[in-house]
Amino acid sequence: MTLAGKNVVLGVTGSIAAFKAVALASELVRARTLVDVIMTASARQFVAPLSFQAVTHRSIFGDVFAANSELNIEHVELAERADIVVIAPATANTIAKLAAGMADDVLGCTVLATDAPILLAPAMDAHMFDNPATQENVARLRARGWEVVGPAAGRLASGLVGVGRLVEVEELMGAIRALLGRSGDLAGRSVVVTAGGTQEPIDPVRYISNRSSGKMGYAVAEAARDRGAQVTLISTPTALPAPFGVQVVYVNTAEQMLAAVRDAVQEADALIMAAAVADYRPARPSAEKIKKADADVWQLELVKNPDILAQVRGDFVRVGFAAESQHLLENALAKLHAKQLDLIVANDISTPGSGFAVDDNQAVLLDAQGERLALPLMAKRELADQILNKVIKLLGQRRAK
Ligand SMILES: Cc1cc2nc3c(=O)[nH]c(=O)nc-3n(C[C@H](O)[C@H](O)[C@H](O)COP(=O)(O)O)c2cc1C
Repeated sequence: MTLAGKNVVLGVTGSIAAFKAVALASELVRARTLVDVIMTASARQFVAPLSFQAVTHRSIFGDVFAANSELNIEHVELAERADIVVIAPATANTIAKLAAGMADDVLGCTVLATDAPILLAPAMDAHMFDNPATQENVARLRARGWEVVGPAAGRLASGLVGVGRLVEVEELMGAIRALLGRSGDLAGRSVVVTAGGTQEPIDPVRYISNRSSGKMGYAVAEAARDRGAQVTLISTPTALPAPFGVQVVYVNTAEQMLAAVRDAVQEADALIMAAAVADYRPARPSAEKIKKADADVWQLELVKNPDILAQVRGDFVRVGFAAESQHLLENALAKLHAKQLDLIVANDISTPGSGFAVDDNQAVLLDAQGERLALPLMAKRELADQILNKVIKLLGQRRAK
């Protein structure tokens, strides 16, 4: 979607993490981008250019004076056709050179000659990264508008545990999508998304929850980010990594989610409630772990949770989800009207391969004007974009009012 057909210039430098750049190049190709790899001379000590060539099916660049280049003046041409320049992994040495504006290799020349956004993913020993020289260089590049992702904390090649690891490919892909999407059709908009199933405590070790994995909400948050929105994701604990460039607020219970949503919607243009909020919670959660008793039956008293969508109103587009196992459209329409939503995403959780915890979803979008869009089974990310198409339309109608 955002990535298909884009030109990505991938700069690879002499770090032990250079092998991860092969996986990144492979992911970029899978996302149908055109990847031009520039390797520094040191990078070639770590990974053979052939690895990148095999993955990208393109020549690898690196020698400013190469006579056999397919390009005219390669660093200028690469710079001009780049939609984004990604330097991953970026060594302390390269970061210092780029901060100083040096151009003694193809990567340096390309960076100086390009107008494209630049993403830097540092990878080095923790002490090298902590060093004031490196910190100053990174700060200078940030001040020039470069985006910096990582480094992450963890075990480093030196044996040290600290901040210096190259971030994982998934996070790099998220950062690339976010940067390329900056001028998308949601640029300047603020979107709040909720995700996951709330956890309502019974005692300090037990809770009541549901099968929501958070995948639908995370897909909406990432899709909105990739279209240029400022995104706040209010999430229960899930197995999913925090998406790059999205502000994540973690909550457990419905009451906490209500407070977080109220806070987040102050400046919002849209609220998309993909979370599965428990209707009821234990009336009196115990402060101590409840011990097993002799009785065969244990009765747990439940009280009603706040209805977040019914309580949070304002001048923003409100989107709800209705996960139903029967009377899908009837129930979804009732919810749409009762909560005065602008849009409801009705999904039939009894459809095989659709709904909770899977990557796909089949839904019908129903809006307050009576428009109905029945969608086939599709990836949650695709459905997220369909929902956002509708949100953009609804935002336009609001402005026209
Ligand atoms: C085994 C090994 C691993 C290295 N890993 C890193 C690293 O992760 N980050 C870094 O900044 N430098 C690392 N270096 C040092 C760089 O390779 C060295 O500074 C080199 O000049 C970088 O050149 P380049 O920035 O042009 O690629 C490593 C060196 C060796 C020998």
